[in-house]
Amino acid sequence: MALNLNSIGKKIGPFTKEYTWKDPVLYALGVGAGFSDLEYCYEKDLKVLPSFGIVTLYDFMPDLAALSNVNLAGILHGEQELIFHRPIPPEGALITAGAITHIYDKGPGKGALIVAEFETKHSGGQKLFSSRVTVFARLDGGFGGEDAPRTPAFMPDRPPDFEIPAAPSADQPLIYRLSGDTFALHVDAEFARMAGFARPIMHGLCTHGYACRALIQQLIPGAPEQARRLANRFRSPLLPGSPIKTLIWKGAPGQAFWRVVQADTGEVIIDNGIFEYGEAPRDEIRFDGRAAIVTGAGAGLGRVYALELAKRGARVVVNDLGGARDGSGAGSVKAADRVVEEIQALGGEAVASYDSVSTPEGGEAIVHRALAAFGRLDILINNAGILRDKTLVKMDPSDWEAVRAVHLDGAFYVTGPALRHMKEKKYGRIILTTSAAGLYGNFGQSNYSAAKMGLVGLMNTLKLEGEKYGIQVNTVAPIAATRLTEDILPPDLFEQLQPEFVAPLVLYLCSEKCPVSGAVYNAGRGFFNRAAVVAGPGALVSDGQTIPTPELLADRLPDLLKMDGAREFYNATEALGAMLTGPAPQAEAAPAAGSAITVAAVFERLPQVFRADQAGGVDVVFQFRIAGPAGGDWFAVIRDGACAVTAGAHEKPTTTIKMAAEDFLNLMSGKLPAMQAYTTGKLKIEGDLMKSQLIEKLFKF
Ligand code: NAI
Repeated sequence: MALNLNSIGKKIGPFTKEYTWKDPVLYALGVGAGFSDLEYCYEKDLKVLPSFGIVTLYDFMPDLAALSNVNLAGILHGEQELIFHRPIPPEGALITAGAITHIYDKGPGKGALIVAEFETKHSGGQKLFSSRVTVFARLDGGFGGEDAPRTPAFMPDRPPDFEIPAAPSADQPLIYRLSGDTFALHVDAEFARMAGFARPIMHGLCTHGYACRALIQQLIPGAPEQARRLANRFRSPLLPGSPIKTLIWKGAPGQAFWRVVQADTGEVIIDNGIFEYGEAPRDEIRFDGRAAIVTGAGAGLGRVYALELAKRGARVVVNDLGGARDGSGAGSVKAADRVVEEIQALGGEAVASYDSVSTPEGGEAIVHRALAAFGRLDILINNAGILRDKTLVKMDPSDWEAVRAVHLDGAFYVTGPALRHMKEKKYGRIILTTSAAGLYGNFGQSNYSAAKMGLVGLMNTLKLEGEKYGIQVNTVAPIAATRLTEDILPPDLFEQLQPEFVAPLVLYLCSEKCPVSGAVYNAGRGFFNRAAVVAGPGALVSDGQTIPTPELLADRLPDLLKMDGAREFYNATEALGAMLTGPAPQAEAAPAAGSAITVAAVFERLPQVFRADQAGGVDVVFQFRIAGPAGGDWFAVIRDGACAVTAGAHEKPTTTIKMAAEDFLNLMSGKLPAMQAYTTGKLKIEGDLMKSQLIEKLFKF
């Protein structure tokens, strides 16, 4: 029976595994702990060995096997990765859910690989760890699918820094199996003989637990809570009673490579081990498991984005054609290669791409590089850029076209194929790079300014097209010391504008934590602000029947130019609506300060200012928790184009909005823009962050 390729993306779980302190202790004993590391074995001040997380595997493996339809006679545990977010508490329940993410074909007779990813939360609600498991399906290859991306060799070619010996007992599997893996191969002599072994063999994950203990003992003694990531590939079976050694190589700070060998023969049992450790900053933004493309990453800003993403766990395609500043020349592979080497030296994962963004084929190839190397694409940073500065009177069409081709066409050529993939996966973060020259103008840069402002237009529409697929698009206008600015900026200012100051914003916008889509930011030297297209209140100079004269408009020019009370529009329809209705009378647009409007009155009015025309397909419950004496709880249920508001708390809100009463009144009256409220912490959002963006659209006071 063939593998079920439709199983990709189907949810597995949630499974709940209740446990008491005895379970992590039993596991620790199973992987050789004892009086030498009593903290894993004694309920007084018990610490849970982080590799205990793998016990959840035994819950989801049967479903994974059934769903994928794998031939059970041929399965082996190929690779294992655990990313630890928090220490595992000594008791409670582990709640695990995930999905098969890939099925790769190694070819006829060579087997297939089934990759699944899971997340485990504690019954207390905290996310504890993520796991990624690769099952080698020996008998299921040759169905014509894509092969898995090759893992570049990364184990150091030098003697290890540490060798930690251990002697699992001949009876070790009998203890280990009590943690969940009761497969007969590890206990039943006859079964083991039928499977081709002299006697029952060790569980690979038992040896894995020995290695985890050895790594902690050597690198973070007494502090298992500092383990951050444990990844490896299983190589060969091991017979119980055979002595082993965990070989450890130190890598970049907080990182080590490891391998387990049979101590007598040197045979490799577990290979390609990576261990990351160190204090985890609370709520650190990480990109583990994500794959990113950074275009123009061979130098300047792009290089820093690529390095920073990789340091935080992303796998990165470093794209750069390595050309001259004006885009001339054949290009050189060196620019991208150097940055890939830098990332690898830090223990990160990266591959180079030398294609130009400025052709459709180039764009396709860059995206293909990510999918072929990493099997996924979550983040795209459109950053490649060139300059050909000239005033318009001196500008040749070739200067215009070359600049447009890299910045504007290039973003289209790479974003198109990336977006198609992200839409399928229902997740994506896209960054476009604009410039102050585009937003505000700069003498001698008409080609560049036009292309850069074109990118803002691209974002405005992509924000709408990506919305329902979890794809967010934001735009950055950086200012940084790079070869593009070395002869433009004064030298002392140049010194102070390291690209590293821009990268934190770009990383945040690329993260799961960022709820914002469709915004433009200026960023440089530690200063950040949002730039936006706004429209003034304007003036209605005609009754809609009489065509106004130019003379009348000349008279009314001050009114046309007025920007007091300027506002943004979410999309063109909204802007058109505002034009057709004309300027709102001031009193209605914003309740005057000190007016008698109350929070309760706002909620009373909510159904009247609800815009049913904007609510097609919307099904949400907004819970409002307004703090302060004038506050309270209200919830709005929006369903089937209608809005019902009730005082109190809803059982299962989609999104919860928390604000102080005064801020809330300012927000609803348009005095406090939602984005500003959010970024200044006045507006706190829980639950589905994306849905909160609907509020501005659904209600118009
Ligand atoms: P940079 O010149 O150091 O880096 C740009 C990189 O893009 C170069 O390595 C170049 O080889 C690569 N590239 C050029 N054409 C390419 C193509 N067709 N395909 C693939 N790669 C290509 O410049 P910098 O300053 O790091 O610029 C990055 C982005 O930031 C650009 O989009 C630029 O317009 C923008 N920007 C930079 C500002 C600054 O102050 N540095 C100001 C405003 C915008």
